[in-house]
Amino acid sequence: MFHQIPDEVLARMRELKQMESKDTADDTARFERLRQIPPETGHLLALIAASAPSGAFIEIGTSGGYSGLWISLACRALGRGLTTFEIAEAKVALATETFRKAGVDDIVSIVPGDVREQLAGQSDVAFCFLDVEKDLYQECYDAVLPNMVSGGLLVADNIISHAGDLAEFLDRAESDERVDSMIVPVGNGVLLVRRV
Ligand SMILES: C[S@@+](CC[C@H](N)C(=O)[O-])C[C@H]1O[C@@H](n2cnc3c(N)ncnc32)[C@H](O)[C@@H]1O
Repeated sequence: MFHQIPDEVLARMRELKQMESKDTADDTARFERLRQIPPETGHLLALIAASAPSGAFIEIGTSGGYSGLWISLACRALGRGLTTFEIAEAKVALATETFRKAGVDDIVSIVPGDVREQLAGQSDVAFCFLDVEKDLYQECYDAVLPNMVSGGLLVADNIISHAGDLAEFLDRAESDERVDSMIVPVGNGVLLVRRV
């Protein structure tokens, strides 16, 4: 997987990171900023996705498609598809360009709009990357979890970087008897959850 990343995928990853370096830190521009995962989280995501059982792969929070490119490496290796959800029109356009330029638009489907209107329809989820506004984590988790296959893997980002905002979510996930979970201190800190 990592030894054969296509040049066009690497080139687009670099472009997106360059775009991000020009992002403003102004929180009022939150929906314009890309807020992409760091590359080490991308490596982790690809490894976890490649270890997921059979079923659907989804991503909640596409942005420009950076994390989706990492997950697409696992999808390519396994012969699976990825469905990714994004509400901001400008980001849907950017991610569409990302997946086309990187040559993974045969693997990745973007669903525009509010993910909360889509999650009930997702069945047999084997892998989920949760990387959306922090106040939506619980609602998304609650909607996805009953639709996950046994052994399915969910990764939630920013567990350490946004520990305050996500404290209640973390408490509930860690005491959820439907899953086993642990914090992995990579990048911004992810919660790795496995449906029992
Ligand atoms: C942290 S960014 C995702 C970054 C991306 N995973 C990456 O690493 O490249 C969160 C994204 O969730 C999107 N978002 C926020 N609320 C949403 C909603 N209700 N439905 C779908 N997408 C939403 C935002 O527009 C933003 O692009």
